[in-house]
Amino acid sequence: MNTQHSVVLVKPDGLQRGLVGEIISRFERKGLKLVAIKMMNLTDQILDEWYAHHQGKPFFPRLKSFMQVAPNVAMLWEGVDCIDTVRKLTGVTKGREAEAGSIRGDFSMSQQLNLIHASDSAEAAVKEEKLIFTSDEIFAYQKDSEVFIYSEEERSQ
Ligand code: CMP
Repeated sequence: MNTQHSVVLVKPDGLQRGLVGEIISRFERKGLKLVAIKMMNLTDQILDEWYAHHQGKPFFPRLKSFMQVAPNVAMLWEGVDCIDTVRKLTGVTKGREAEAGSIRGDFSMSQQLNLIHASDSAEAAVKEEKLIFTSDEIFAYQKDSEVFIYSEEERSQ
């Protein structure tokens, strides 16, 4: 099967607001496969690399300290076209403008406190996976319900 990985972080606001279970549940119910999960404090070094494209922007120092006020819950999800699928379920950056039905659209009002990070490209997903997970933290296993999630044709591609 031609699958992708997407890295998801439940940010400190999501953890503090008790939304970890709700967020995991949305990805599970969609049919995505959870292949890694852990709680962690994000170091300065990780955040400088993670948000390298935001370095120099006025909100960068605020963003970094917000990401360190509590642990993040890091997850790796797998599925066909996983990156786009996860981003659709996540919604656009500014919570109050995000589509109703998306995670941010249903639970966030803020541009900074937007609950969740989701990889925005295949290149970003590879970089983020390497920054967060070691190979022994990522699990390859058979998900039996897959035959009811993807067609035979989709599974054979
Ligand atoms: P995300 O899209 O996951 O990655 C970049 C993050 O920076 C974004 O979520 C927000 O949490 C944060 N962010 C983006 N724009 C702003 C802004 N103008 N002010 C504060 N935080 C921001």
